[in-house]
Amino acid sequence: MTILVTGGAGFIGVNFVHDWLAVSDEPVVNLDVLTYAGNPDSFASLRGDGRHIFVKGDICDRELVDRLLAEHRPRAIVHFAAESHVDRSIHGPGEFMRTNVTGTFTLLEAARAYWGALEGAEREGFRFHHVSTDEVYGSLTADAAPFTETHPYEPNSPYSASKAASDHLVRAWHHTYGLPVTTSNCSNNYGPYHFPEKLIPLIIVNALAGKPLPIYGDGRQVRDWLYVKDHCAAIRVVLERGRVGETYNVGGWNEKPNIDIVNTVCALLDELRPDAAGPYSRLITYVADRPGHDRRYAIDARKIERELGWRPAETFETGIRKTVQWYLDNQAWVSNVQTGAYREWVERNYVAR
Ligand code: NAD
Ligand code: DAU
Repeated sequence: MTILVTGGAGFIGVNFVHDWLAVSDEPVVNLDVLTYAGNPDSFASLRGDGRHIFVKGDICDRELVDRLLAEHRPRAIVHFAAESHVDRSIHGPGEFMRTNVTGTFTLLEAARAYWGALEGAEREGFRFHHVSTDEVYGSLTADAAPFTETHPYEPNSPYSASKAASDHLVRAWHHTYGLPVTTSNCSNNYGPYHFPEKLIPLIIVNALAGKPLPIYGDGRQVRDWLYVKDHCAAIRVVLERGRVGETYNVGGWNEKPNIDIVNTVCALLDELRPDAAGPYSRLITYVADRPGHDRRYAIDARKIERELGWRPAETFETGIRKTVQWYLDNQAWVSNVQTGAYREWVERNYVAR
């Protein structure tokens, strides 16, 4: 048996591939086009491991996807590939529509043709798992109840609108064609291999370089944070035991304002890599807010706990300590991703702010 993973060179995808192969001998075909966010260094330790088959290619390439399905006959597709950064979607939404909407459509059509030709147990057991986000539900007021799976979709950014569109496609392919799908909507992940354009790795990397730590607006926006390996475990559980056609919200029960996150990271760095110039929090700099910035996300993860027995294993305190330590131990990985393209992005997003 084999599974096909898309986007397995990105942050969550590569953690999923590592964790999958740590607990299973079932091979993974990893389809990733290697955008700026995809990094083969992140699976360098799997070189020579026959269970990991990396294919550089685009999920919008129907011929390629058809060929991979015919060749490897996976029992499941786990779909991570996406453009994932909200700020980039504000600067240039086109690529988000192409990959997140057209790419998901292409995969669904290829999966439908492949699954339609399967028979018996193979057909019965096949799954298409779609990895999505809590951002599709929009923004919560301070005292509103956390998002449940039945919360209305109210996406506010080009990124979340494109993910909402992909969720609707997945739902429709199940409802209309019977494709055996599951979807998970997860909150903010953090952990190893996180590209330093996102808040937590950006703060770690900038602090170590003595650069400003940019806080958008008043820094009081609230996110729910989940250690990436807990997200990967949740996806494995949904894949194995999730009910077909269902959506599962995944979260860490850990809502925090951005400024608290940044102060926690600074305090850990003060302890683990003290700076003679003074506490890292001295670098905190308030900058212009993100246009349309969602104020608060919060996840009600009781359904996945009740039905499938999943709960996060890490607390924020244990997860963030592991994460900061990982960045301290993997400086070479960080410098390799800080290419010319990365520097251009930093210039575009922060210098004119
Ligand atoms: P990421 O940006 O780190 O990685 C995305 C990967 O997809 C990259 O390796 C990239 O090369 C690949 N990719 C992009 N376009 C492609 C295409 N057309 N064909 C093939 N591969 C392509 O993203 P991430 O943070 O790992 O997120 C993975 C998934 O999880 C996304 O669908 C995202 O919406 C969802 N998600 C992310 C978070 C989070 O906090 N990061 C939370 C909830 C859900
Ligand atoms: O909620 C799940 C989502 O979490 C995922 O679907 C997205 O793919 C993922 O990127 C993430 O989206 P956010 O926009 O919440 O993540 P980001 O790390 O970009 O920002 C987290 C918060 O920190 C947000 O309120 C914006 C703020 N921020 C971010 C950056 C990069 C800053 O204050 N300064 C910054 O420099």
